[in-house]
Amino acid sequence: MQTATISFDPFNSLSDKDCHERIRAARAKLGKKAVILCHHYQRADVYQYADLTGDSLKLSRLASQTDSEFVVFCGVHFMAEVADIMTAPNQTAILPDLAAGCSMADMANLAKVERCWRELNEILNADQEVTPVTYINSAADLKAFCGEHGGIVCTSSNAGTIAKWAFERRPKVLFFPDQHLGRWTGHNLGFAMDEMVVWDPDLELGGLTPEQIKKARILLWKGHCSVHQMFQKSHIDAFRAKHPEGKVIAHPECNFEVCAAADYVGSTEYIVKTIKEAPEGTRWLVGTELNLVDRLAEEVKPQNKIVQFMATTICMCSTMQRIDPQHLAWTLENLAEGKVVNPIRVPEHEAKLAKLALDRMLAIS
Ligand code: 13P
Ligand code: SF4
Repeated sequence: MQTATISFDPFNSLSDKDCHERIRAARAKLGKKAVILCHHYQRADVYQYADLTGDSLKLSRLASQTDSEFVVFCGVHFMAEVADIMTAPNQTAILPDLAAGCSMADMANLAKVERCWRELNEILNADQEVTPVTYINSAADLKAFCGEHGGIVCTSSNAGTIAKWAFERRPKVLFFPDQHLGRWTGHNLGFAMDEMVVWDPDLELGGLTPEQIKKARILLWKGHCSVHQMFQKSHIDAFRAKHPEGKVIAHPECNFEVCAAADYVGSTEYIVKTIKEAPEGTRWLVGTELNLVDRLAEEVKPQNKIVQFMATTICMCSTMQRIDPQHLAWTLENLAEGKVVNPIRVPEHEAKLAKLALDRMLAIS
């Protein structure tokens, strides 16, 4: 099987109908050699081809369990990296469009995290006092940093368990890159707001005083999700005023006020499961990405459940959206012809350390 730089151009102008025919033909040819993993935020015209779906935790497990030669990841870059790390050397993870990144993951990078660690070491003994915890929405080198420094990876569905694990080892946690997930997790573990301080990576000492750093139990990296920041408590207040019987469910990447005002908070898989299992005729306001919400609304309509999107403006994960039928057709057709496009390969030394942090997570969640 050759890895090549193959032009996408001829597929750019392909109609959706042609794409679908070519996707179906390529899949038939590939059979079990390729498995398609889709995150819940994938657009409907791609999601329909999923062999396996899930939230980040479930997809990491599924990636580690598949024996297909090619794992085609319809999601974002960090997810395909995790698939590469968790699969065997003879398997290849593929991201149909390399521009499908995660803007939150990009808010932390190794240079800034290493500088943070150095600065913390001026005030504390970081390797003995701080457990680094990276949200799975991060680059592989940050997972490797955690692996190397006694840290761990978490996802939105296991952050509480992981944070407990971290505090059993050291008295403080450095949580990156999502401050909101970190704050919500810390709050659920009983930490007061003034024990959780925001580390601004663009300021010296994160913009904190040595006293604030010494007192803090959780250092929250100043990062956020551009999609989930759109949801506001005022949306919940307006919904409750109109539908007092309605239920509110939010992803923990939403800000603290939204999570605190919601009835339920959890990962994408948790949101889907909770609403699917809810009694007939219930009404829901959902604070997460629009593709998931639209799909779920259609799926539960026959049970007379009403599912509403939390924001008043359309907010989608524009990077997830980049995986379209054109890119999927391009990827699968080339694979079926023996050509690998867009393989994701994490350097071996980095993958080894990142796997350490991922394995620690999978062992306890
Ligand atoms: P989940 O792990 O809940 O699927 O979240 C991933 C994500 O990127 C949400 O924005
Ligand atoms: Fe990243 Fe936000 Fe998109 Fe999730 S929704 S992949 S956190 S940008």
